[in-house]
Amino acid sequence: MNWYRIKTALVGLRRLAELSDEDKQACIDAYKFFQRMQDGAPTQTADEMKAVADYYKVLNNLLSVFDLEKLYIPPQLDESQGLYGNQLLCEQAVLKDLALREPGRSHLLDMGCGRGRISYHFATLTGGRVSGYNIDPNQIESAIDWAAECGMNSRLHFKVGNHHEPLEYDSGTFDGCFSFQAVWPFFKKEELDAHAGEMYRVLKPGARYACSEYLLTPHFDWSDEEHVRLHKAYLPTLAATQSMYPADVCAALKGAGFEVVVSAPSRRPAWPICEQKRDLILRGRKVVRALEAIRILPPWIEESLDLLQSGGEAWTAAEKAKIADLNWRIVAEKPR
Ligand SMILES: C[S@@+](CC[C@H](N)C(=O)[O-])C[C@H]1O[C@@H](n2cnc3c(N)ncnc32)[C@H](O)[C@@H]1O
Repeated sequence: MNWYRIKTALVGLRRLAELSDEDKQACIDAYKFFQRMQDGAPTQTADEMKAVADYYKVLNNLLSVFDLEKLYIPPQLDESQGLYGNQLLCEQAVLKDLALREPGRSHLLDMGCGRGRISYHFATLTGGRVSGYNIDPNQIESAIDWAAECGMNSRLHFKVGNHHEPLEYDSGTFDGCFSFQAVWPFFKKEELDAHAGEMYRVLKPGARYACSEYLLTPHFDWSDEEHVRLHKAYLPTLAATQSMYPADVCAALKGAGFEVVVSAPSRRPAWPICEQKRDLILRGRKVVRALEAIRILPPWIEESLDLLQSGGEAWTAAEKAKIADLNWRIVAEKPR
């Protein structure tokens, strides 16, 4: 284990300990909300957004303790590498898909940027600028601190923002935009067009959108009881609220004016890495129990780790059956 991982885990624990009682209660409420959603209760997007922000406020710190600082599971592109190495490979592939003409002069947009570590990676690879937004101020605070620590304030810009509102950037600003398991799992079908339109607006002509996103595959069948059972079990584990088909997203992108260059399944499955992480979290439960005992963590966290376990098993089954994909690839281009 290297120094950066130890430091990240310690900072995660400190940030968990510093959360206010209101934050902890809001996270518990969000967790219960997801359970009600899972049981089929109809929900409003505004309530879903609040629950997502409240939940991620705790989850991002909790998972950073388990070396999941970038909150997504990549495909296992290289079996000799772990989660982090495969995240880097996945990010390099998405950057390649953006086909930047002048990387060093580029300005990219990271949608749902989490703690800004993917933006940082892109900025180091291109030599250019990256802006990112996220609904959760806690993650944005971590991203801003990290940019300052790396001396990259002039090239990394983070702010609170919401996919469901007009993007707070001028039209034609970006040479490319990208997302990693952060955009489409939070939209109902009828809401896709508005965000696709915003993406189109903020990109320059000729610029591309590329992603690695959770989507159902065309084989998922809502009338198949087993598909529905697996979906119900794994969705809260992904901390996602919705499941779209690639065709839904591509239709919205085309409707906004994009040309869809690629819409394809992940190059490799993610479940082997999900299973590695599940094992790590299982081992970490002793630590969680101890922290609950001294009241640093609220008692429901262990329960939510249980959910991660059972949801993780359902995810593996769904991915093996090829009915859902954590890293569906879409590349879309705004015509010149
Ligand atoms: C699975 S995580 C991926 C985060 C990031 N891309 C990464 O890999 O670290 C999903 C992210 O989407 C963010 N998110 C969810 N709904 C959002 C919304 N409506 N607007 C902006 N960000 C949102 C969450 O706060 C979370 O950081």
